[in-house]
Amino acid sequence: MEDQAEKLREMMRNKKAHEKPVSLQNGKKTRIITITSGKGGVGKTNVSVNMALAYARLGKKVMVMDADLGLANVNVMLNLIPKFNLYHVIRKQKTMREIIVDTEYGISIVAGASGFSKIANLNEEERQEFINEIETLSSADIIIVDTSAGVSSNVLDFIAAADDAVIITTSEPTAITDAYGIIKIIATEMDNLNRGLKLVVNRVKSAAEAKQVADRMISIVGQFLNIKVEYLGFIYDDSMVSQAVIRQKPFMVMDPKCKASQCVQHIVGRMEKNDTQESGGFGNMIKRFFGRAAL
Ligand SMILES: Nc1ncnc2c1ncn2[C@@H]1O[C@H](COP(=O)(O)OP(=O)(O)OP(=O)(O)O)[C@@H](O)[C@H]1O
Ligand SMILES: [Mg+2]
Repeated sequence: MEDQAEKLREMMRNKKAHEKPVSLQNGKKTRIITITSGKGGVGKTNVSVNMALAYARLGKKVMVMDADLGLANVNVMLNLIPKFNLYHVIRKQKTMREIIVDTEYGISIVAGASGFSKIANLNEEERQEFINEIETLSSADIIIVDTSAGVSSNVLDFIAAADDAVIITTSEPTAITDAYGIIKIIATEMDNLNRGLKLVVNRVKSAAEAKQVADRMISIVGQFLNIKVEYLGFIYDDSMVSQAVIRQKPFMVMDPKCKASQCVQHIVGRMEKNDTQESGGFGNMIKRFFGRAAL
Protein backbone atom coordinates (compact mmCIF):
# COMPACT_ATOMS: atom_id res chain seq x y z
CA MET A 1 0.00 0.00 0.00
CA GLU A 2 2.82 2.45 0.89
CA ASP A 3 4.51 1.99 -2.48
CA GLN A 4 1.25 2.35 -4.26
CA ALA A 5 0.47 5.58 -2.43
CA GLU A 6 3.88 7.03 -3.24
CA LYS A 7 3.54 6.13 -6.91
CA LEU A 8 0.15 7.75 -6.91
CA ARG A 9 1.44 10.94 -5.32
CA GLU A 10 4.15 11.12 -7.95
CA MET A 11 1.56 10.66 -10.68
CA MET A 12 -0.57 13.40 -9.18
CA ARG A 13 2.38 15.79 -8.90
CA ASN A 14 3.00 15.36 -12.61
CA LYS A 15 -0.65 15.70 -13.41
CA LYS A 16 -0.93 18.94 -11.51
CA ALA A 17 1.57 20.60 -13.81
CA HIS A 18 -0.96 20.70 -16.62
CA GLU A 19 -4.10 20.97 -14.57
CA LYS A 20 -6.31 23.96 -15.22
CA PRO A 21 -9.64 24.75 -13.64
CA VAL A 22 -12.48 23.65 -15.84
CA SER A 23 -15.60 25.73 -16.22
CA LEU A 24 -18.88 24.24 -17.32
CA GLN A 25 -22.51 25.22 -17.05
CA ASN A 26 -24.50 23.47 -14.42
CA GLY A 27 -26.63 20.80 -15.97
CA LYS A 28 -29.55 18.99 -14.43
CA LYS A 29 -28.73 17.45 -11.10
CA THR A 30 -27.20 14.04 -11.63
CA ARG A 31 -26.13 12.00 -8.66
CA ILE A 32 -22.85 10.19 -9.11
CA ILE A 33 -22.29 7.14 -6.94
CA THR A 34 -18.86 5.53 -7.10
CA ILE A 35 -18.56 1.92 -5.95
CA THR A 36 -15.13 0.76 -4.93
CA SER A 37 -13.22 -1.62 -2.64
CA GLY A 38 -9.75 -2.40 -1.39
CA LYS A 39 -9.83 -6.10 -2.21
CA GLY A 40 -11.08 -7.52 -5.49
CA GLY A 41 -14.02 -9.86 -5.84
CA VAL A 42 -16.00 -8.52 -2.88
CA GLY A 43 -19.12 -7.72 -4.91
CA LYS A 44 -18.68 -4.26 -6.49
CA THR A 45 -20.13 -5.12 -9.87
CA ASN A 46 -23.07 -7.00 -8.37
CA VAL A 47 -23.81 -4.09 -6.07
CA SER A 48 -23.47 -1.55 -8.93
CA VAL A 49 -25.79 -3.34 -11.31
CA ASN A 50 -28.39 -4.34 -8.75
CA MET A 51 -28.41 -0.94 -7.06
CA ALA A 52 -29.02 0.52 -10.51
CA LEU A 53 -32.04 -1.77 -10.88
CA ALA A 54 -33.35 -0.83 -7.45
CA TYR A 55 -33.10 2.85 -8.41
CA ALA A 56 -34.79 2.17 -11.76
CA ARG A 57 -37.69 0.62 -9.88
CA LEU A 58 -38.10 3.91 -8.07
CA GLY A 59 -38.57 5.56 -11.46
CA LYS A 60 -35.04 6.94 -11.80
CA LYS A 61 -33.12 7.11 -15.03
CA VAL A 62 -29.97 5.18 -14.20
CA MET A 63 -26.73 4.49 -15.97
CA VAL A 64 -23.93 2.19 -14.90
CA MET A 65 -20.48 3.21 -16.07
CA ASP A 66 -17.90 0.44 -16.05
CA ALA A 67 -14.70 2.12 -15.02
CA ASP A 68 -12.94 -1.13 -14.22
CA LEU A 69 -9.55 -1.07 -15.85
CA GLY A 70 -9.09 -4.75 -16.40
CA LEU A 71 -12.16 -6.79 -17.16
CA ALA A 72 -15.33 -5.40 -18.62
CA ASN A 73 -17.50 -6.84 -15.87
CA VAL A 74 -20.77 -5.02 -16.17
CA ASN A 75 -21.65 -6.12 -19.68
CA VAL A 76 -20.73 -9.72 -18.87
CA MET A 77 -23.06 -9.66 -15.90
CA LEU A 78 -25.85 -8.45 -18.19
CA ASN A 79 -24.98 -10.74 -21.08
CA LEU A 80 -24.25 -7.87 -23.43
CA ILE A 81 -21.47 -7.51 -25.92
CA PRO A 82 -21.23 -3.81 -26.68
CA LYS A 83 -19.33 -3.02 -29.84
CA PHE A 84 -17.85 0.16 -28.43
CA ASN A 85 -16.64 1.31 -25.05
CA LEU A 86 -14.92 4.19 -23.29
CA TYR A 87 -11.71 3.44 -25.10
CA HIS A 88 -13.38 4.50 -28.35
CA VAL A 89 -14.57 7.72 -26.74
CA ILE A 90 -11.09 8.56 -25.53
CA ARG A 91 -9.70 7.68 -28.94
CA LYS A 92 -12.40 10.00 -30.40
CA GLN A 93 -13.78 7.24 -32.56
CA LYS A 94 -17.19 7.48 -30.87
CA THR A 95 -19.15 9.95 -28.78
CA MET A 96 -20.31 9.02 -25.30
CA ARG A 97 -23.90 9.04 -26.50
CA GLU A 98 -23.03 6.57 -29.24
CA ILE A 99 -21.62 4.02 -26.84
CA ILE A 100 -24.50 4.04 -24.34
CA VAL A 101 -26.29 0.73 -24.45
CA ASP A 102 -29.86 0.41 -23.24
CA THR A 103 -30.67 -2.87 -21.55
CA GLU A 104 -33.88 -4.83 -21.29
CA TYR A 105 -33.91 -4.04 -17.56
CA GLY A 106 -34.60 -0.32 -17.88
CA ILE A 107 -31.05 0.79 -17.11
CA SER A 108 -28.35 1.80 -19.54
CA ILE A 109 -24.65 1.05 -19.43
CA VAL A 110 -21.41 2.55 -20.63
CA ALA A 111 -18.93 -0.23 -21.17
CA GLY A 112 -15.38 0.05 -19.90
CA ALA A 113 -12.10 -1.08 -21.35
CA SER A 114 -8.52 -1.49 -20.38
CA GLY A 115 -7.81 1.53 -22.60
CA PHE A 116 -9.60 3.64 -20.04
CA SER A 117 -6.41 3.80 -18.03
CA LYS A 118 -5.18 6.20 -20.67
CA ILE A 119 -7.32 8.90 -19.12
CA ALA A 120 -4.48 9.59 -16.72
CA ASN A 121 -2.29 10.55 -19.65
CA LEU A 122 -4.66 12.78 -21.57
CA ASN A 123 -3.36 16.21 -22.43
CA GLU A 124 -5.36 19.34 -21.65
CA GLU A 125 -7.17 19.45 -24.98
CA GLU A 126 -8.04 15.74 -24.92
CA ARG A 127 -9.24 16.07 -21.36
CA GLN A 128 -11.48 19.01 -22.21
CA GLU A 129 -13.00 16.97 -25.02
CA PHE A 130 -13.55 14.03 -22.73
CA ILE A 131 -15.26 16.32 -20.22
CA ASN A 132 -17.60 17.54 -22.92
CA GLU A 133 -18.38 13.92 -23.69
CA ILE A 134 -19.14 13.05 -20.08
CA GLU A 135 -21.46 16.04 -19.94
CA THR A 136 -23.74 14.32 -22.41
CA LEU A 137 -24.48 11.79 -19.66
CA SER A 138 -26.15 14.45 -17.54
CA SER A 139 -29.54 13.31 -18.79
CA ALA A 140 -29.37 10.48 -16.24
CA ASP A 141 -30.68 10.95 -12.70
CA ILE A 142 -28.10 8.58 -11.29
CA ILE A 143 -24.75 7.42 -12.62
CA ILE A 144 -23.26 4.45 -10.79
CA VAL A 145 -19.56 4.05 -11.44
CA ASP A 146 -18.23 0.54 -10.95
CA THR A 147 -14.48 0.82 -10.39
CA SER A 148 -11.65 -1.64 -10.16
CA ALA A 149 -10.42 -2.78 -6.76
CA GLY A 150 -7.61 -0.89 -5.07
CA VAL A 151 -6.31 2.56 -5.73
CA SER A 152 -5.35 4.02 -9.04
CA SER A 153 -5.43 7.59 -10.16
CA ASN A 154 -8.65 6.90 -12.04
CA VAL A 155 -10.39 5.43 -9.05
CA LEU A 156 -9.44 8.49 -7.02
CA ASP A 157 -10.72 10.73 -9.82
CA PHE A 158 -14.07 8.99 -9.70
CA ILE A 159 -14.21 9.14 -5.92
CA ALA A 160 -13.43 12.85 -6.06
CA ALA A 161 -16.13 13.34 -8.67
CA ALA A 162 -18.78 11.40 -6.81
CA ASP A 163 -21.59 12.67 -4.67
CA ASP A 164 -21.33 9.37 -2.82
CA ALA A 165 -18.37 7.02 -2.57
CA VAL A 166 -19.40 3.56 -1.46
CA ILE A 167 -16.73 1.18 -0.18
CA ILE A 168 -17.59 -2.51 -0.29
CA THR A 169 -16.01 -5.05 2.01
CA THR A 170 -16.81 -8.53 3.20
CA SER A 171 -16.18 -9.63 6.77
CA GLU A 172 -12.99 -11.46 5.81
CA PRO A 173 -9.97 -9.97 7.58
CA THR A 174 -8.12 -9.48 4.28
CA ALA A 175 -11.04 -7.54 2.79
CA ILE A 176 -11.39 -5.43 5.94
CA THR A 177 -7.66 -4.64 5.98
CA ASP A 178 -7.73 -3.65 2.32
CA ALA A 179 -10.87 -1.56 2.83
CA TYR A 180 -9.07 0.27 5.63
CA GLY A 181 -6.09 0.66 3.28
CA ILE A 182 -8.14 2.34 0.57
CA ILE A 183 -9.93 4.57 3.08
CA LYS A 184 -6.54 5.61 4.43
CA ILE A 185 -5.30 6.52 0.96
CA ILE A 186 -8.49 8.45 0.21
CA ALA A 187 -8.16 10.29 3.52
CA THR A 188 -4.51 11.10 2.87
CA GLU A 189 -4.83 12.05 -0.78
CA MET A 190 -8.04 14.04 -0.69
CA ASP A 191 -8.55 16.84 1.71
CA ASN A 192 -11.76 18.13 0.18
CA LEU A 193 -13.89 15.06 -0.32
CA ASN A 194 -17.41 16.18 -1.16
CA ARG A 195 -19.15 13.87 1.25
CA GLY A 196 -18.14 11.19 3.70
CA LEU A 197 -17.55 7.62 2.60
CA LYS A 198 -20.25 4.99 2.89
CA LEU A 199 -19.55 1.41 3.88
CA VAL A 200 -21.41 -1.70 2.72
CA VAL A 201 -20.57 -5.08 4.24
CA ASN A 202 -21.31 -7.84 1.74
CA ARG A 203 -21.72 -11.60 2.08
CA VAL A 204 -22.64 -11.72 5.75
CA LYS A 205 -24.61 -14.35 7.61
CA SER A 206 -26.30 -11.90 9.98
CA ALA A 207 -26.96 -8.22 10.50
CA ALA A 208 -24.97 -8.45 13.72
CA GLU A 209 -21.90 -9.72 11.85
CA ALA A 210 -22.07 -6.75 9.47
CA LYS A 211 -22.62 -4.26 12.25
CA GLN A 212 -19.58 -5.58 14.09
CA VAL A 213 -17.39 -5.11 11.00
CA ALA A 214 -18.79 -1.62 10.38
CA ASP A 215 -18.44 -0.52 14.01
CA ARG A 216 -14.84 -1.62 14.13
CA MET A 217 -14.01 0.08 10.86
CA ILE A 218 -15.70 3.32 11.85
CA SER A 219 -13.97 3.34 15.21
CA ILE A 220 -10.50 2.72 13.75
CA VAL A 221 -11.02 5.22 10.95
CA GLY A 222 -12.29 7.78 13.45
CA GLN A 223 -9.27 7.22 15.64
CA PHE A 224 -6.55 7.36 13.01
CA LEU A 225 -7.89 9.13 9.94
CA ASN A 226 -9.57 12.43 9.44
CA ILE A 227 -12.44 11.11 7.36
CA LYS A 228 -16.06 10.31 8.01
CA VAL A 229 -17.32 6.83 7.24
CA GLU A 230 -21.00 6.04 7.46
CA TYR A 231 -22.40 2.51 7.66
CA LEU A 232 -24.83 2.23 4.76
CA GLY A 233 -25.92 -1.37 5.14
CA PHE A 234 -25.17 -5.03 4.50
CA ILE A 235 -25.99 -7.74 2.00
CA TYR A 236 -26.54 -11.33 3.02
CA ASP A 237 -24.46 -14.08 1.53
CA ASP A 238 -27.08 -15.47 -0.82
CA SER A 239 -26.70 -18.35 -3.30
CA MET A 240 -29.02 -16.44 -5.66
CA VAL A 241 -26.14 -14.03 -6.34
CA SER A 242 -23.83 -16.60 -7.93
CA GLN A 243 -26.76 -18.29 -9.69
CA ALA A 244 -27.65 -14.91 -11.21
CA VAL A 245 -24.04 -14.28 -12.22
CA ILE A 246 -23.91 -17.66 -13.95
CA ARG A 247 -27.16 -16.92 -15.81
CA GLN A 248 -25.88 -13.44 -16.63
CA LYS A 249 -28.95 -11.79 -15.15
CA PRO A 250 -29.06 -9.41 -12.20
CA PHE A 251 -30.31 -11.08 -9.00
CA MET A 252 -32.81 -8.25 -8.66
CA VAL A 253 -34.37 -9.63 -11.85
CA MET A 254 -33.93 -13.33 -11.09
CA ASP A 255 -35.60 -12.96 -7.70
CA PRO A 256 -36.56 -9.49 -6.48
CA LYS A 257 -37.59 -11.01 -3.15
CA CYS A 258 -34.40 -12.93 -2.39
CA LYS A 259 -32.36 -11.87 0.62
CA ALA A 260 -29.71 -10.08 -1.44
CA SER A 261 -32.35 -8.15 -3.43
CA GLN A 262 -34.09 -7.02 -0.28
CA CYS A 263 -30.79 -5.81 1.17
CA VAL A 264 -29.93 -3.84 -1.98
CA GLN A 265 -33.37 -2.24 -1.95
CA HIS A 266 -32.84 -1.31 1.66
CA ILE A 267 -29.46 0.25 0.83
CA VAL A 268 -30.99 2.31 -1.98
CA GLY A 269 -33.76 3.37 0.38
CA ARG A 270 -31.12 4.70 2.76
CA MET A 271 -29.29 6.45 -0.07
CA GLU A 272 -32.52 8.14 -1.07
CA LYS A 273 -33.08 9.34 2.48
CA ASN A 274 -29.60 10.85 2.51
CA ASP A 275 -30.21 12.57 -0.79
CA THR A 276 -31.92 15.47 0.92
CA GLN A 277 -28.40 16.76 1.50
CA GLU A 278 -27.07 19.36 -0.87
CA SER A 279 -25.43 17.95 -3.98
CA GLY A 280 -23.26 20.00 -6.26
CA GLY A 281 -24.97 19.11 -9.54
CA PHE A 282 -23.46 17.71 -12.65
CA GLY A 283 -21.41 20.75 -13.62
CA ASN A 284 -19.75 20.70 -10.23
CA MET A 285 -19.13 16.99 -10.54
CA ILE A 286 -17.18 17.60 -13.71
CA LYS A 287 -15.20 20.34 -12.03
CA ARG A 288 -14.42 18.05 -9.15
CA PHE A 289 -13.45 15.31 -11.56
CA PHE A 290 -10.76 17.23 -13.30
CA GLY A 291 -10.10 20.19 -11.07
CA ARG A 292 -9.38 18.04 -8.03
CA ALA A 293 -7.10 19.81 -5.61
CA ALA A 294 -3.39 19.08 -5.68
CA LEU A 295 -2.62 15.70 -4.24
N1 LIG B 1 -23.99 -11.30 -1.46
C1 LIG B 1 -23.38 -12.31 -2.10
N2 LIG B 1 -23.74 -13.60 -1.84
C2 LIG B 1 -23.14 -14.62 -2.46
N3 LIG B 1 -22.15 -14.48 -3.35
C3 LIG B 1 -21.74 -13.24 -3.65
C4 LIG B 1 -22.33 -12.08 -3.05
N4 LIG B 1 -21.72 -10.99 -3.56
C5 LIG B 1 -20.78 -11.44 -4.42
N5 LIG B 1 -20.79 -12.78 -4.49
C6 LIG B 1 -19.93 -13.64 -5.30
O1 LIG B 1 -18.71 -12.97 -5.53
C7 LIG B 1 -18.42 -12.92 -6.92
C8 LIG B 1 -17.71 -11.64 -7.24
O2 LIG B 1 -18.62 -10.57 -7.24
P1 LIG B 1 -18.37 -9.26 -8.13
O3 LIG B 1 -17.92 -9.64 -9.49
O4 LIG B 1 -19.56 -8.39 -7.99
O5 LIG B 1 -17.14 -8.65 -7.32
P2 LIG B 1 -16.21 -7.43 -7.75
O6 LIG B 1 -15.84 -6.73 -6.49
O7 LIG B 1 -16.88 -6.61 -8.80
O8 LIG B 1 -14.95 -8.16 -8.36
P3 LIG B 1 -13.72 -7.49 -9.18
O9 LIG B 1 -12.86 -6.84 -8.13
O10 LIG B 1 -13.06 -8.65 -9.81
O11 LIG B 1 -14.32 -6.51 -10.14
C9 LIG B 1 -19.77 -13.09 -7.60
O12 LIG B 1 -19.62 -13.67 -8.86
C10 LIG B 1 -20.53 -13.97 -6.66
O13 LIG B 1 -20.28 -15.32 -6.96
MG1 LIG C 1 -16.18 -6.00 -10.72
